[in-house]
Amino acid sequence: MERCEEMGTSISKSRIVACSAQELQDGDRQLLEVDGVDIALLNVAGSYYAFRNKCPHQGVSMIYGAVCGTQLPSNPQEYIYGRHNELIACPLHGWEFDMKTGKSLFAPDQVSIKAYEIAEEAGEIVLYLDREPKEVCRREFVCFSR
Ligand code: FES
Repeated sequence: MERCEEMGTSISKSRIVACSAQELQDGDRQLLEVDGVDIALLNVAGSYYAFRNKCPHQGVSMIYGAVCGTQLPSNPQEYIYGRHNELIACPLHGWEFDMKTGKSLFAPDQVSIKAYEIAEEAGEIVLYLDREPKEVCRREFVCFSR
């Protein structure tokens, strides 16, 4: 773990290495526990996402959700699919969230899951957190959604 200062601002973030890039290849998911909070990590077609692993509705694990797109606004009788692979649907009742921002589709300013900054850097998957964590560990889970 190391602390990073963003250039020109007083904001500092804690950088933690979550796993190697080999452990989070396209279609893979990992689960990390940071100070008692579960964070889901996903690689979807080369894009990395990290978000809190708890649905705000009834608390189920979002890591078991299906990655999807959605119907875009359109005229009556018109069905336009878009945002492919940008959303995750809660496995219990299907609330959908933007994996990058964490905002829900149905009430983006009221309902969301916390999204985290994640990047691949020199073969490592790195998370940037708002504060320095005391305890970080990998969690085991079984998931067949790919
Ligand atoms: S528990 Fe997630 S939508 Fe109900």
